[in-house]
Amino acid sequence: MTVSPPDLAGPAATETADRPADAKLVVDAVTVEYHTRKGTVHAVTDVSLDVPRGSTLALVGESGCGKSSLGRAMLQLPRPSSGRVMVDDTDLCALSGSSLKEARKRIQMVFQDPISSLNPRRRVRDIVAEGLEIQGVDGGREEIRRRVDAALEAVGLDPAHAGDRRPSEFSGGQCQRIALARALVLEPEVLVCDEPVSALDVSVQAQILNLLEEMKERYHLTMVFISHDLSVVHNIADRVAVMYLGMVCEVADTETLYRAPAHPYTMLLISSAPTLGGTLADTLGEDSITATSSELPSPLNPPSGCRFRTRCPRATELCAAERPPLTTITPGHQVACHHPLQENR
Ligand SMILES: Nc1ncnc2c1ncn2[C@@H]1O[C@H](COP(=O)(O)OP(=O)(O)OP(=O)(O)O)[C@@H](O)[C@H]1O
Ligand code: SF4
Ligand SMILES: [Mg+2]
Repeated sequence: MTVSPPDLAGPAATETADRPADAKLVVDAVTVEYHTRKGTVHAVTDVSLDVPRGSTLALVGESGCGKSSLGRAMLQLPRPSSGRVMVDDTDLCALSGSSLKEARKRIQMVFQDPISSLNPRRRVRDIVAEGLEIQGVDGGREEIRRRVDAALEAVGLDPAHAGDRRPSEFSGGQCQRIALARALVLEPEVLVCDEPVSALDVSVQAQILNLLEEMKERYHLTMVFISHDLSVVHNIADRVAVMYLGMVCEVADTETLYRAPAHPYTMLLISSAPTLGGTLADTLGEDSITATSSELPSPLNPPSGCRFRTRCPRATELCAAERPPLTTITPGHQVACHHPLQENR
């Protein structure tokens, strides 16, 4: 699909050319807890991550491990229970009111489930304009319309055709384009994409992944890409963080993570990813592991020590007694495990 170079900011906002191209995102000791009638859900516990400027970090892990909670906490939706989220030098967790509203423009999210995240009663044009309406724009309605049209064009939708329709008239892939336009219209520096292709047919997945890559290059975005599927992030991520039951268990550049996983859970994920194909299966060889239990413990009452220990074939008493800290094993490669797989190689 040919997409003409977008002009989201327009002539009235040429200062975007001087703006720092994008931000570095730092997540520092972030914890997200939900207080429910059944008790406290430990959705995210003490997670620290760094996303270098202009790079893509994938957050990977099975359903319920806290990926969306962490992604939303980055945007302060809601604010995490504790920790800091820095975009450049600005700690979003320390802001409130108008300063938080202003800072929020810099980090936007494409929410999980493209269809239900779009209000079915509103026209596409109004959905995409929502953030601009909230923020307020110099130039009023004319300028909002111009920027909405530019955002729709940027994601490959014809504003004249799509603008006055409602989400139910579009396919899942097109809804994802609308959701992306809604996020991009605010010209963010950081984009968090929550399972952007999981609900889509495989053929459409590739189109949306290509579009994300294109938008990332064009707008110099720093990206967090959330997925439960390691095979999806393989080509899009520079680095991958693997989460298990609310905690990060391994972080590495993509090539290292797939070639030499050090955490037993990462190995399990890779071994069980059906579409990773021969290359990775060959790499893993007899190192592939099988979980001792398929049951994910409850985040209401996570296991002591290492949270993966109830499913880990390598677990020892130490694993129950002490939580393994995230430790650097080679430059840029961190793992939280008392008995990492690399030791055997
Ligand atoms: N608002 C909430 N109130 C209570 N518990 C919640 C809330 N949101 C999420 N949870 C719980 O927190 C845990 C983490 O949920 P989260 O949605 O962040 O996981 P996820 O990794 O995004 O899962 P999925 O892959 O299914 O989207 C789960 O146990 C979930 O049930
Ligand atoms: S710390 Fe122990 S239980 Fe946890 S992953 Fe490592 S070996 Fe397994
Ligand atoms: Mg989720």
